[in-house]
Amino acid sequence: MYFSAAFIFAALPFLATAVPMAEAPSRSGVAIPIAKRTTLHLADGSVNAEVLKRKMRSSVAKINRGFEIYARNTGKVHPSARNLKKRATLGPDPLTDVDDQFWYGTISVGTPAKQYTVDIDTGSSDLFLPGSTCGSTCSGHTLYSPSASSTSKDLNKTFTLYGDSSSVSGEQYSDTVSIAGLTATGQTFGSAKTYSTGFESSEFPADGLLGMAFELLSDYNANPLFQSLIAAGKVADASFGFYFAASGSELFIGGVNDELYSGNFTTVNVTTAAYWQTTFDSFSVNGQAVVNRTAAIIDTGTTVLIGSSAGIKALYAQISGAKADSSLGSGFYSIPCSFDTPLSVTFGGTEFTIDPSTFNLGPVSDGSSTCVGGAVADDDISSAFWILGDVLLQNVYTKFDVGNQQIGFATLA
Ligand SMILES: *[C@@H]1O[C@H](CO)[C@@H](O)[C@H](O)[C@H]1NC(C)=O
Ligand SMILES: *[C@@H]1O[C@H](CO)[C@@H](O)[C@H](O)[C@H]1NC(C)=O
Ligand SMILES: *[C@@H]1O[C@H](CO)[C@@H](O)[C@H](O)[C@H]1NC(C)=O
Ligand SMILES: *[C@@H]1O[C@H](CO)[C@@H](O)[C@H](O)[C@H]1NC(C)=O
Repeated sequence: MYFSAAFIFAALPFLATAVPMAEAPSRSGVAIPIAKRTTLHLADGSVNAEVLKRKMRSSVAKINRGFEIYARNTGKVHPSARNLKKRATLGPDPLTDVDDQFWYGTISVGTPAKQYTVDIDTGSSDLFLPGSTCGSTCSGHTLYSPSASSTSKDLNKTFTLYGDSSSVSGEQYSDTVSIAGLTATGQTFGSAKTYSTGFESSEFPADGLLGMAFELLSDYNANPLFQSLIAAGKVADASFGFYFAASGSELFIGGVNDELYSGNFTTVNVTTAAYWQTTFDSFSVNGQAVVNRTAAIIDTGTTVLIGSSAGIKALYAQISGAKADSSLGSGFYSIPCSFDTPLSVTFGGTEFTIDPSTFNLGPVSDGSSTCVGGAVADDDISSAFWILGDVLLQNVYTKFDVGNQQIGFATLA
């Protein structure tokens, strides 16, 4: 086990009160605070390389799993999956570790409503909670009890899901689910009978997980929660906004929070409405484009930037003192801790800067002058696409526009 100090960033407390009492469509949208917990660093502040490695592999595994679900739901191979190497099995990913970084918020489920915390993940599409028949692996979590909810309906279908790296299985139910005071009735979700180690309360701070991508990735082949709210006319604006910051992060349901960004959004189309997938124009280091036009999945459930070996190599070639460091894991690079090279990603003609402090993940060991770089190569991903996680998302305000199938990026206020 690779436990380390948890860094919990307090959410903006005043936002917690911004919950409307009415059931009418939310004209202005509603913010809910989200908390962050990560075990990426050891108590001394250095990077826990084992955790980082597992997190990276689990992100890749999750995305590959989504391609399988997409193929089953549509009968077609996902356009980006074509370029992927054939996976050996369609079964559970062999990883048994925990995903160590979470963004989580609160939802309520059932009648009477009971509150649960959920990890908010734009890289998957299903909601699951630990169920009352789950054994000791669910202890410490708030459990969903179908018999305690008058609106609960057993769908008589089992499910097996792979949250970033760990497996969850149980029974599908539908019930009333509310987020930020907006209610979906008859929402399909999974009530887990089994949580693997990675979802135990000591390792997974939220009770369950809320997928925020499109329905084609739903293992239940059902509307994800946000799509249910749209279908029920509960949100006037079929989009949600993410703001990630150490000082207080939030998920904004039904639009964006105008206080948290400046200027206009740069909007790009979602290329295949399954993942939050788009194309970036270029990735630059020190103003020089090291990678041009590449598909990218925007994933709140991924910590780093994951790209092709060639692209990541080209990126680090422009960073003085950077080198591939296999002691950290395959695909990882180290950089000098004094690194202050500006990096940027250009979407729709607008360049968004990645602050060196968010790219630098921290020292490889306590007191070292060598640090871990926030971009990692993975050959499973091949040259097909990149996965852009928190290293980018902490630097921009992101609008996930379900209705128009677009992603908007804006500069932080
Ligand atoms: C599930 O099975 C139970 C018992 O056979 C039945 O009463 C219920 O209607 C079924 N639910 C659905 C959604 O089919
Ligand atoms: C935002 O867009 C509006 C309308 O197109 C334009 O008038 C305004 O100048 C833009 N603002 C910035 C900061 O680019
Ligand atoms: C984005 O999608 C819209 C609607 O399908 C289309 O009209 C537009 O040309 C697309 N923009 C780009 C840059 O591809
Ligand atoms: C990316 O495109 C720019 C502008 O066309 C070009 O100067 C640069 O060499 C290209 N970079 C790569 C890695 O292809």
